[in-house]
Amino acid sequence: MATKDNSDTAVIQGRVEDVQELRRSQPTVIPARYVRDGNERPSPALSPILPSMDVPVIDLSRLGSCSSKTPEHESEMAKLAAACEGWGFFQVINHGVEHELLEKMEKLAKEFFMLPLEEKEKYPMPPGGIQGYGHAFVFSEEQKLDWCNMFALGLVPAFVRKPELWPTNPPSFSETLEKYSNSIRLLCETLLGFIAESLGLRRSFFNEMFGEAVQAVRMNYYPPCSWPDLVLGLTPHSDGSALTVLQQDTASVGLQILKDGAWLPVHPITNALVVNVGDTLEVLTNGKYKSVEHRAVTNRESDRLSLVTFYAPSYEIELGPVPELVNDKACLYRRYNHGEYSRHYITNKLEGKKRLDFAQIQTSL
Ligand code: OGA
Ligand code: NI
Repeated sequence: MATKDNSDTAVIQGRVEDVQELRRSQPTVIPARYVRDGNERPSPALSPILPSMDVPVIDLSRLGSCSSKTPEHESEMAKLAAACEGWGFFQVINHGVEHELLEKMEKLAKEFFMLPLEEKEKYPMPPGGIQGYGHAFVFSEEQKLDWCNMFALGLVPAFVRKPELWPTNPPSFSETLEKYSNSIRLLCETLLGFIAESLGLRRSFFNEMFGEAVQAVRMNYYPPCSWPDLVLGLTPHSDGSALTVLQQDTASVGLQILKDGAWLPVHPITNALVVNVGDTLEVLTNGKYKSVEHRAVTNRESDRLSLVTFYAPSYEIELGPVPELVNDKACLYRRYNHGEYSRHYITNKLEGKKRLDFAQIQTSL
């Protein structure tokens, strides 16, 4: 039964079925809540893909950490700017996060999802919540469901942490996650430095503005699905973050981005990380850098795992388009409190780029 709370958000009371368990029961038909309407169903993957149609790859070692403006630095910086402007997505190589750490985290996350349901349910995501094991963004019984199990944890600052949700099994999960998130956090700071530079701002611009940045991780496990053309692994959405860093296993393809009206797959590259511009960076850059809609599809035979880090400013700060980036152009977004935007994002279902309406300047006719 769906009920309404006073913020007018429908909170579902009933249980959402666990997708791994559903798969294990080998249903002969797919439950209606997973069957997408015709226009939402994944179309067959586009092929052949021209290399120029692939998400750009940025080599962080070419950007370097010192301030010397070598030709190598300049050309990679131009690639970074073009990726953020034209794609909203790129893959980063030589990113400084140890490959062993990436592999270990992926292995442990997979082990977690392979635990018996009772074990995973020791860390339940409450209805309408976003942390723990379960289904985020489910607010009504009419809503279509994603073919995915999720496990999400707030990491920093300390007040977003829910220690009771950090698993004790697999034994080294929590300790590894701590190392992993520290390392990804450094990468986010570095990337934000180069992104600021690519916009003609000083490198420390966003990192200073963000204050005590908020970081969270969501692990998405997509079991195989016998009807991959009827379901979605994850509903189309843009991320509410400033930056998102996604690690995907290399064994299967599932992430797709909306590019020029078509869904393009993001082919995994071994040891690369996928980075995308979130809504917050779109607002800060007054739409110059794009928060692009993306989704996940499932595969008939293979499962898929992604580890997704969301990096965003402190909830305390007020933000809007950076004046230097607006200049004489029309200002597309208003100023608002980032905490309010985050609340707005997590109390609504995923729905394309709709959440950004919150930041839109209302023009009266
Ligand atoms: C997300 C996301 C895509 C994927 O978690 O926000 O876009 O491939 N995930 O899991
Ligand atoms: Ni996303």
